[in-house]
Formats: sequence, structure tokens, C-alpha cells
Amino acid sequence: MNEHGFQVAPWDLRWNSLDLPALEQTESIFALSNGHIGIRGSLEEGEPTVLPGTYLNGFYEQHQLPYAEGGYGYPEDGQTVVNVTDGKIIRLLVQDEPLDMRYGRALEHHRTLDFRSGTLRRDTVWESPTGRRVRVRSERLVSFTQRSVVAIRYEVEPLDGNVQLVVQSDLLANEPIESASKDPRVAATLKDPLVSEDAFAEGMRAVLVHGTRHSKLRVAAAMDHELTTDDGLRTEIHAEEDLARLTAAVDVPLGSRLRVVKYLGYGWSARRSAPALRAQVDAALAGAIQTGWDGLLAEQRRFLDDFWDSADIVVEGDAELQQAVRFALFHVVQAGARGESRAIPAKGLTGPGYDGHSFWDTETFVLPVLTYTMPESARDALRWRHSTVDKAKERAAALGLGGAAFPWRSINGAECSAYWPAGTAAFHVAADVADAVGRYLGATGDEDFERESATELLVETARLWMSLGHHDLHGGFRIDGVTGPDEYSAVVDNNVYTNLMAQRNLREAATVCRRQREVAAELGVSDEEVDSWLAAAEKMVVPYDPVLEVHPQSERFTEHAEWDFEGTPAEHYPLLLHYPYFDLYRKQVVKQADLVFAMYLRGDAFTPEQKARNVAYYEERTVRDSSLSACPQAVMAAEVGHLDLAYDYFAEAALTDLHDLHHNVRNGLHIASLAGAWIVAVAGFGGMRDHDRSLGFAPRLPPALSRLAFRMVYRGSRFAVDVSRTEATYSLLSGDPLTVTHHGEEITIAEDPLRMKIPPLAEPEPVRQPAGRAPVRRRPTE
Ligand code: BGC
Repeated sequence: MNEHGFQVAPWDLRWNSLDLPALEQTESIFALSNGHIGIRGSLEEGEPTVLPGTYLNGFYEQHQLPYAEGGYGYPEDGQTVVNVTDGKIIRLLVQDEPLDMRYGRALEHHRTLDFRSGTLRRDTVWESPTGRRVRVRSERLVSFTQRSVVAIRYEVEPLDGNVQLVVQSDLLANEPIESASKDPRVAATLKDPLVSEDAFAEGMRAVLVHGTRHSKLRVAAAMDHELTTDDGLRTEIHAEEDLARLTAAVDVPLGSRLRVVKYLGYGWSARRSAPALRAQVDAALAGAIQTGWDGLLAEQRRFLDDFWDSADIVVEGDAELQQAVRFALFHVVQAGARGESRAIPAKGLTGPGYDGHSFWDTETFVLPVLTYTMPESARDALRWRHSTVDKAKERAAALGLGGAAFPWRSINGAECSAYWPAGTAAFHVAADVADAVGRYLGATGDEDFERESATELLVETARLWMSLGHHDLHGGFRIDGVTGPDEYSAVVDNNVYTNLMAQRNLREAATVCRRQREVAAELGVSDEEVDSWLAAAEKMVVPYDPVLEVHPQSERFTEHAEWDFEGTPAEHYPLLLHYPYFDLYRKQVVKQADLVFAMYLRGDAFTPEQKARNVAYYEERTVRDSSLSACPQAVMAAEVGHLDLAYDYFAEAALTDLHDLHHNVRNGLHIASLAGAWIVAVAGFGGMRDHDRSLGFAPRLPPALSRLAFRMVYRGSRFAVDVSRTEATYSLLSGDPLTVTHHGEEITIAEDPLRMKIPPLAEPEPVRQPAGRAPVRRRPTE
């Protein structure tokens, strides 16, 4: 058991505590999702709970964005994810007394999130205040194979003698919930957001249909049950506007048990009628019941076996980190597996944080993982982007720009950021989308996707850069007045990250248009337009400070005043909550990796010496007030040889949520940071780079680890890389042999494992962080 209450184990996460303040964290940590439905890890009996939460990907309510002072081009409407009808509630009365963990005594209690079965299990021995003991076991899943289905197995066993048990299984809409919004006007819109349209109950089945007032979306939730017991059972069911309830009463003798399997079906739509949605959830239930609980469990395991076969990471030398990395991957697959042409939100479907919005987090952190492990899911997420291209073109037009301006944050594709300097101005999201498209095409060779979606995405993003940038008097192509990844600088000129990513975007668009001539012609792309992209890419301005011999993250950055780190108390982090933006913007303080990120994603644009100097310069000025920073910092620290530091950041990325490092895990998990754990393992210690369609590795372990092994899928071939201190072994698991590089040397990964020596490392000069901002020195746990 570690100090955070979790038992360290390689394939599951077990929590034995009932610590109520920690309950809100475990509601996020134990959330289950398939990317379509998400349910938080609240207890079946409904209370105690902090944020119960049931979410459907893409289901939101709309509200006016509050501005004290408006301005041209400000988005008018915000979107917020809605807590839909809660179907996970199963209340239990033991001889009249409600099971409530705050009363009586928990003689045993643990909950286990199992990364291989894809279920959350609970095992509780509860003694009621009058001394009756029962054992309650439950297991729940959100099905990866039947994407509209949730199932819960719930069992009660008397431990002392015969008892009368009453079980109430609910569907509950408009659950009272604390609003995540600080604005009372927004909170008011989100209070009781669901308007009842239909309620139906018969036998063991009930359905509730609701609609939202403003976004005009409709949701249906249905439940059905199988009850098994040895003795006479009385059940009744009823449904009213916001509540459907099955009540079952039964006498259970000692040595026997009551078993309930609850099946839930969810469906939502902007267009379909209430009867059509009801039919849809009825059909989902029919499928689930036909498969049965055991069948759903077996399907779930097969799905995950397959995932782990292509994606598992073995970490030897640090048991807690091994668990954290698998936990991270499990949540990434939960966030992305069955999104199917919907966005992947920054919190997945684990909580209401960030209003349920998606950001560049998806393309830059989550999609690299999915591209190399479950490429179809990466394709589906990119199809979502593609489905929003018209909205992005309208947004660009409203801003007086060409091409497509994808939103900084959104659920349905429309911009929802009310703070334009770190929202609309963060145009790099366009290049991040293009980068994810290029990466996916390179890793899969998916020609259908290239024709149907990729070409348009690349063309419209290239057009955005052409209208946003201009050739200056010297011919250089400048992109002025934009915000890069570091949100402690805003509206800057020639942000290196943005410019280099735009450069790649323009080149990729040109390459694909030359391959897809017909599609390009349909999009109105002429040879002259392609030439203009290539000329802009060629002349892209990349500022450099010749005196300091480093790259300023944007023009003149290195001339700004330094931040007074020594005089900044620890409790003033994150800085954005304690200092005005105007002061952050004009000083050399970096919220999250920006130039350092550019060196990872566009490593081909820097020399090794520049990388080492830039890492040292930006380490000293980066405060990591965003959970998105540790990952790119780790990757670059590893590349330039700071392996211990990379290891500390690896732990920070992987343990962000399990250690609640940002004190907000209650609102949902940090999916980008969790995906970052994979990136650090594979791109950091594995040294994986995928520039210009050539895949390379440069593995090297930090001293604390004795082994790191990972798996990937590339162009349909699955292979494994197994790294020890002195050598790396490459082996093909399925598909055709692949040519890659190992520390620059060309090798072929084929069936016979290939062992390659790891070249020695020249010790780099130590680097330091701002006062008080060094990462926690990781001490491995065995
Ligand atoms: C970061 C953004 C990120 C967002 C959502 C912010 O704190 O600065 O880069 O996209 O969180 O994770």
C-alpha cells in the first residue's frame, strides 16, 4: 500500500480506504468509459458521493458566454457537458436499514480497477448499526464491444442469518450536483438541464427520455435486470419524469445470495425522435441481455487482451511506475476506443472539468498513442475533426482569415473559449491537427482516409497559415500575433513552435495534394497555390538569439525581464491564480514546454548542440503549471542525456492523477498527461521519432530502471522493443519486416530478434529548474 492509499500491483489498482475526502478523487480514478459513455466511480448506493457523473460523448448544454465587455469575433455560446441520467444506482436495505458506508461499520472494503478485465470491482462486508452483517460484491463495466451498454453485477450475501433484503435499482435524471461553473448564470442554465419527454416501465425494464432546453439534444436511458435468488421474490417497477425504479424484496437465507445483473442502454441524438431513441436503447438492451453478463465480461477481456498485445509497456525497477503506466494506458484507451467520430475531451469522460471540452491535447498527446497502438481509433478522432471543418472555415471567415481555424476548446466544433489571447490566438491547434493527420498517414498508409478526410484537413489548415502569415521585406515568412503552447506568453510574433509546425503543415499539404490530384482539384487547389505553400515553408522565419546561442521561443523572448523566482512563494503556484497575465506575458516565465516541445516534434529542425543549450535555457524558466509540460520536458531531457531528470518527469506525467499533483483530480483525469506517460516511455527512453515517414529509435534507460519494453503497430506490422541497460532487442510480432534505425544505424525488424548495443552516453552539464520547481526526485519502489 502506498501513501496515497493504493495497493501497488502490476495489472490493477486497488483502494482499501473509505476516506471520504479522498472519495472525490477515486470517483475520477475509478471512472469507466469506452469513449462513448463514461460513468464515474461513485458507489452503487448513490451516497456518499461528491460528483456522481454519467456522460455521453458529445452531449452538452449550450449557454451564453458571460463577458463583462464584448468584442468583435468573440464566441457567443459556450458548451458544457451534461451529467445525464444516472443508471449506476442500486440501493440496498438490509432488514429496513439502508446500506450507507457512513453508518454502521465496514469490516472489509476494497475497490479494484482491473486493467485486463476492464471492470471495477467492489467487495464490502458491512455491519449495519444494529449489528447485521452482509457481504456486497459488485462488478461493473462500460462495454468496449457494445458501445451503448453498461452492465453491473451486484450480489448480496447475508453473513449471520436469514435477512430480508430490498434492492432499489434506479434511473435518475437531474441528479442534484454541485456546479463546476464559477459563473452563477452558467450554473443556473445547468441546473436540472434535462426536460422529461417520456417515461416507461414494464416487467424489469424502464426507459426515460429527456431533452435539453437550448442545445436541443435528446437522450434515452434504459435499464433491464436479471434477478437470481433461491426464494420468493417480489418486484415492482415504476417510472415518472426523472426517476425510474425497480424494487425487489426477498428473504435470503444464510448460505445463499441475491444476485442482480443490471443492464443499461444509452443513446442520444440531435435529430432522432423520442420513439426512435427509445427503440435504439431497447435494441441495445436486447443485445446486452442476449450476450449476458458472462458474455460481456468475456468480450471485454478479449478487447483488452488485443489492446495490451499491441500497446503494453513493461517497466522494471519501479513497481509503482509500472502500475501507473498501465493505469495511464487503460484510461487512454477508455477515452479513445469508441469515440467514433466524436471528440476526445481533455478529461475523457471521467469528470466535468474543462466543461467537457477537447483541446489540442487530443491531437498532440492522445493521438500519437492511439496511432501506434489502435490506429482505427486515431482515424475516428481525426474524422471528428474533419466533420467540423465547415465550422472551422466559418470561424476563419469571421476572423477575416482563409482556410479553417479549429477551435481552441469545444465539444461540437464551435469555438467556446471566452479568453481570446489564450484561445482564438492559439492558432497552433491547426498545425497540431495537421501533424496528427500526417503522423497517422505515415504510420498506416491509409489511402481512403487520405482521400476522404486528410487532404481537406491539410489543405484548409495550410490555407489558414497563408492568410495568417506574410512575407516580409526580406522575403521571410512571418506569423505574427499568435499564442504558442506556453500560455504565459500571448499574442507574440514568430513563435518557433507555431512556425515550425506550420512549416510541416504546408509541406505535408503540398505532398498530399500532389498525390491526390483529383481531391485537390475539387478543393480548388492549383499548382500555384501548392508552390506558394512550399515557398512560405522554405522561407519560414525561425528566430535565433546569436548572443545567447539559443532559440527565443518567440521573437525577442530572451530580451524580456526575468521572473523573480526566488521571490515567488511556493503557494503562489500556479502563477496564473496569483499574478496578472500582463505581468506574466512580459517576462521570461514559461507555463509549459513550448520551444522544448518544438524540439521534440520538429527535432529535424535543430542540431544536437542547439537542443542541449535550449533544454538548459528553458529548464531554468519553465514552471510546469500545466500537466502537459512534464512529458515533452522528459522526452527532450532524455534526448540530450539528462536521464535522471527525464525519469523524474516520467513519474510526474504518469502519476499526475494517482498522486493528485494538480489538486483537481476530482474534476476528472488529465488524459494528455496520462498519454504523456506512453510518450515518455516510447519517445523519451525508447527515443522513437517519426519524421518524414522514417521511423527511428535511440533507446537509453535511466539508471533507476533495469528494463523497459514496449510494443507498437506501424504500417500493419506489430513489433516489440525490449531495452536493457546495455542493449535493445527488436522483434517482429506480426506482419511484414520493417526497416527502422537504431541510434542512427539502419536495421530491419524481422522474426528473429535483433539485439543491438546501446552506445555510451557523454555526461551533459547539469541543468536546473526555477527555485522550488524542480520535479520530485523519484525513488523507485519495488
Ligand atoms: C493548458 C493547455 C491545455 C489545457 C487542457 C491548459 O492548462 O495550458 O495547453 O490544452 O489545459 O488540458
